[in-house]
Amino acid sequence: MSNSIESTLHETRVFPPPESFVAQANVSGKAAYQALLDEADRDPNGFWGRLARENLQWSKPFTQVLDESKAPFYTWFGDGELNVSANCLDVNLVNGNADKIAIIFEADGGEVTQVTYQQLYERVCKFANALKALGYKAGDRAIIYLPMSIEAVVAMQACARLGVIHSVVFGGFSSKSLHERITDVGASLVITADAQMRGGKAIALKPAVDEALGMGGCEAVRHSIVYRRTGGDVAWDAKRDLWMHEITAKQSADCPPVPVNAEHPLFILYTSGSTGKPKGVQHSSGGYLLWAKLTMEWTFDAKPSDIFWCTADVGWVTGHSYITYGPLAAGLTQVVFEGVPTYPDAGRFWKMIQDHKVTTFYTAPTAIRSLIKASEAKASHHPKSYDLSSLRLLGSVGEPINPEAWMWYHINVGGERCPIVDTWWQTETGGHMITPLPGVTPLKPGSCTTRLPGITAAIVDETGGDVEAGHGGFLVIKRPWPSMIRAIWGDPDRYVKSYFPSELRGYYLAGDGAQCDTDGCFWIMGRIDDVLNVSGHRLGTMEVESALVAHELVAEAAVVGRPDATTGEAVVAFVVLKRSRPEGDEAIAIGKQLRDWVAKEIGPIAKPKEIRFGDNLPKTRSGKIMRRLLRVVAKGETVTQDVSTLENPAILDQLSTPV
Ligand code: WT7
Repeated sequence: MSNSIESTLHETRVFPPPESFVAQANVSGKAAYQALLDEADRDPNGFWGRLARENLQWSKPFTQVLDESKAPFYTWFGDGELNVSANCLDVNLVNGNADKIAIIFEADGGEVTQVTYQQLYERVCKFANALKALGYKAGDRAIIYLPMSIEAVVAMQACARLGVIHSVVFGGFSSKSLHERITDVGASLVITADAQMRGGKAIALKPAVDEALGMGGCEAVRHSIVYRRTGGDVAWDAKRDLWMHEITAKQSADCPPVPVNAEHPLFILYTSGSTGKPKGVQHSSGGYLLWAKLTMEWTFDAKPSDIFWCTADVGWVTGHSYITYGPLAAGLTQVVFEGVPTYPDAGRFWKMIQDHKVTTFYTAPTAIRSLIKASEAKASHHPKSYDLSSLRLLGSVGEPINPEAWMWYHINVGGERCPIVDTWWQTETGGHMITPLPGVTPLKPGSCTTRLPGITAAIVDETGGDVEAGHGGFLVIKRPWPSMIRAIWGDPDRYVKSYFPSELRGYYLAGDGAQCDTDGCFWIMGRIDDVLNVSGHRLGTMEVESALVAHELVAEAAVVGRPDATTGEAVVAFVVLKRSRPEGDEAIAIGKQLRDWVAKEIGPIAKPKEIRFGDNLPKTRSGKIMRRLLRVVAKGETVTQDVSTLENPAILDQLSTPV
C-alpha cells in the first residue's frame, strides 16, 4: 500500500448542513439517519426487504431477500420478478407524471429538446417493439455505442423493457476496445450513431463499429442499428445496418414490459482492473434499481420540483445510475447534455444551470478544477457571472476532491448555501456507498464522510482485522448489499479473486486505500492496485503497457501515474525501443507516434501525458520492473530509497531527464 495512506490529515474545517436544508430533507437530521443505520445493522434482511417492497413495483413479489448459500455469488430478491423500464416509465404515467418533462436535452450546439414521461415511454416502446420485431429477446446482449442523447436513454430503456442485456461502450473508446467488448459479451446487436458532436466538431462513430465488426469473432452480431445524429455520409451494409428512425416509424407506442427475475442481468459495463483485459461488471435488475432509486432520494434528496443534472456520460456507471435509471425511477426532470464543458466557452455549465434552472448538479472534480482555471483566466467564464440561485445541492464523483477545489465549488457555484455530496462508489457497487446525506452530515472538504445505511464500509488490515481510526488500510464492505456486482461476465474465478480474496474473511475488497477518522468519516487515499484514475476514469497501467508493446518499435514499457493538478493523475510511460534510445526531435516524433497509437488501441483518454525513453527499465536482479521507483522519477523527484536490489541503478538518472 502506498505511503500516502500514512500521511496525516490536515483538513479541519467542518460545514454543518444548513438548517433550511435539514428542515425539508428526505432524511432529516442525525436521529433519522441513525434510525436507518440501526434498522439496517439490527436486521439487514428486514431492512432491505422493506425498502424493496416500498420502492419498486414487482410483477411477482419476492419471498426471500438475500441468499448467501453460494457466497460470494449472492442473490437478492431472487424469486421476485419485475421490469426495470416499467419501474422507470410506466409508474410515472400512473403517478400523474405523464406530462412532466422527463428529459431536457441540450445538444453540443445549444439546441434544446424536451420530452415528457409520456413521450419518453412511447419512444422506448416503439424502439423496444422494433427490437422485438428483429427477434431480440431477454438474455440477448446489445452493445450500445452512442453519443449523449435522448436516443441513448431510449436504447438502454428499450433493452431493459425486453430483458435484453446492454453493454454501453463510451464513445471515446477505439474500434479495438469496442471489438474486445463485442466479442467478450457475445453481442448479437450493436446500436450506434453516424457521428457525435463534441465542441462544434462531428466525430464519426459508425466507422469504428464497421471496423470492429470487420475484425473477426463478431459473427453473432446480426444488426447494427444507427441513430442519425448529423446526417453525414456513412458506409452502409444493407444486410446488417438499419436506421433507427426507419425501424421505429411504424411501431406501436405500447410495448408490454417483459417481467424478468430480480437477478436477471440488467447490464454489463466494462471497467479496468489491475491485470489483463477490462472486466465486464455484471449488474442485476432488482437490487441495482432499488439502490439507484434510493440513493436519488437519500443522497440527492430528490424532490418532484427538482431539475437534476448529472454531467457524466452514459458510457460510465455514473451515467447508468444517475441518468438512465435513478432519475427516471424517482420521477424527476433531468438535463442531459451532449457537449463538453468548454464549448463554446468555459461558462457553458454555468449558463446551462442558469437557463434550465438546475437545482441539483453532479459533476467530477477534474471538471471543477479545469473550470477554476478557465474562470480565473476570464471573468465572463466565472460562475459569478451567471445566476445560479436555482441550485440547492451539489455533488462530486469519480475521484477524491481536493479541499481547494471543494471550497471553490462551495463558494462560487453553491453560493455557500448548497451542501456538497462527495459520493464514493465504483462501477462495481452500482450506486453511492459512502457519502454525506445533505440534511444530516457535517461536511469536511476532501472527505466522502460517512457510510449509507445498510452499507457496512470499514477499514481493515491484510488479514481483515479492523484498523483503528486515523490509520490507513484497505477499504472493504463487510456484508453484501443489493446493488453489488454479481459477476465478471464469463470469468467467475476472476470475480472471486479480485473482490473476495480469502485473507479478507469474505469482505468485498474495493481496491482503494483509505482511513477513517474518529467521527467515522472516510478519507480515500487512492488505489492500492495498478489502476490509475485519470479525469475520474479508471485506467489499468497494464492495459496501456500492452498497447505500447504492441507497437512495432517498442521492446518494453512500464506505465505509472503521476499526480496532476487538473486530471488527478496523469499517465507517464517509460519506454525501451527495439532500436537505440531516441533523443531530441526524434524522441519527440516517436513519442507523438506512440501517444497516437495508444489512442487508437484504447482511446484518447489512455494517451500518456509524457513518454520517457531509456536504454532499459529499472529492474531487480530477478527481472522485476521497479514501478515504485518509476513513480518517484515520474514526479520529478530524486530517488532516496535503497536501490541496492537494482540490477542497473544508473538507469534512473537516464529516465529522470524528460525529453
Ligand atoms: C474508483 C471507482 C463512482 C463512479 C465513477 C467512477 C475512485 C470514485 C470517489 C470519491 C474518492 C473516488 C475510487 C474508486 N472514486 N469516487 N468520491 N472520492 N475516490 O467509477 O470508474 O468504477 O472508479 O474511483 O478510487 O475505487 P469507477
